[in-house]
Amino acid sequence: MKPASKTAPRTFAVKSFGCQMNVYDGDRMSELMSAQGLTATDPDQADLIVLNTCHIRERATEKVYSDIGRIRKHAMARHGKNPMIAIAGCVAQAEGEEIVRRAKVDVVVGPQAYHNLPELIAKAARGESALDTGMPVEMKFGHLPARRRVPPSAFLTVQEGCDKFCTYCVVPYTRGAEVSRPWAHIVDEAKALVDAGAKEITLLGQNVNAWEGEDGSGASGGLDGLIRALDRIEGLKRIRYTTSHPNDMREGLIRAHAEVEKLMPFLHLPVQAGSDRILKAMNRSHTRDSYLRLLDRVRAARPDIALSGDFIVGFPGETEADFAETLSLVDSVAYAQAFSFKYSPRPGTPAADMAGQIPAEVMDERLQRLQAALNRDQEAFNAATVGRTCALLLERKGKLPGQLIGKSPWLQSVHLVSDAVVGDLVEVEIVSAGANSVAGVERVPVAA
Ligand code: SAH
Ligand code: SF4
Ligand code: F3S
Repeated sequence: MKPASKTAPRTFAVKSFGCQMNVYDGDRMSELMSAQGLTATDPDQADLIVLNTCHIRERATEKVYSDIGRIRKHAMARHGKNPMIAIAGCVAQAEGEEIVRRAKVDVVVGPQAYHNLPELIAKAARGESALDTGMPVEMKFGHLPARRRVPPSAFLTVQEGCDKFCTYCVVPYTRGAEVSRPWAHIVDEAKALVDAGAKEITLLGQNVNAWEGEDGSGASGGLDGLIRALDRIEGLKRIRYTTSHPNDMREGLIRAHAEVEKLMPFLHLPVQAGSDRILKAMNRSHTRDSYLRLLDRVRAARPDIALSGDFIVGFPGETEADFAETLSLVDSVAYAQAFSFKYSPRPGTPAADMAGQIPAEVMDERLQRLQAALNRDQEAFNAATVGRTCALLLERKGKLPGQLIGKSPWLQSVHLVSDAVVGDLVEVEIVSAGANSVAGVERVPVAA
């Protein structure tokens, strides 16, 4: 059926779900539409709503469909007409036409094609079908407008896609093969971010530490070389990167943690499970022992580094003994923070057809035990920082008068009462700790 034509939208809202790369993409779509003369507004009032979706677990996907229904209902109640709906992100890539059939949306655009959004919106307004899930050879970034308004802590995507094919994961299918953005483009974008007010840049990629490219002199290098180049940008105070794969964690990057002062002492290095049998079935291609030895090297380079990870419980075939190995790995690492998920079978992935799928109650119970251990370690990490003095980058206002919230070097949320403003870096002493955040008081640095 041919969709009915709609008037061209004048206002828009973007809602992003999923990982930080989606947040980055959402911001870039907003910039693109603003550059086309559309005005950003709240989702309740917008003529065009872009849902920038995530496909990683079943719940994330179902949420998209329930959101579409809710948006339409609200819009009808508010102004009696249906907004134009565009589905972007990984659900768009994975489901394609299926979303148009199931939810009658106006535009479907994949994560590598959103530079074509203006053209797709125009097509939809003419009542034409508007679907683009292509993975062009030339990357979208060159077709996007320059960065203008950015927060103190900004994201910068440097690498996309994944060639690892963990047996549970949709990312290699939704984001495509591993591609690194060219060095010069990244350095230019980083400078533009700093000129627009960013003090901290987090380099993003599905496997960010697999980034490779040639520097200005033609020498090829890895993420550590790029980090060292960004280190030279005046005005940039802090550098972070996420997410890394254990197999791409090379010596140069570990050394950068010892040598580059702007590189923050934090590493998100997902392990997923503690049993070699399960790691093998997951196709992780690292072992429990190689992961632990890697962390020893990272800690030797940067003793105060805060470690973070991702875990999946209830992967097909996971026995109580396998799960006990995940708990013992957690005990030996003592993560500063971590994310943990119940295994979710994803259509088209090898694990979805494996024997030994784990019942929901068993997964629930394992997840509770794992999260109790991770929460215990997070609280202990926070408590151990009490008494430390560190720089804090203020990112937003808190709920109380005069309250500001910022991030410590170890990525803790720090609450502070101060006359400083968002975007300032202030010297604080951490004075008390909770499970999810800590409190600081400002210390006036002694003048040199
Ligand atoms: N590239 C990153 C992570 C991408 S997805 C990496 O390899 O570390 C983020 C996290 O979602 C994964 O680390 C994993 O813990 C979780 N995840 C991915 N697929 C999943 C699935 N099918 N079920 C449950 N959790 C999943
Ligand atoms: Fe998914 Fe594995 Fe690739 Fe991470 S490394 S994105 S978990 S396939
Ligand atoms: Fe989700 Fe796609 Fe990111 S599936 S986690 S939005 S790469």
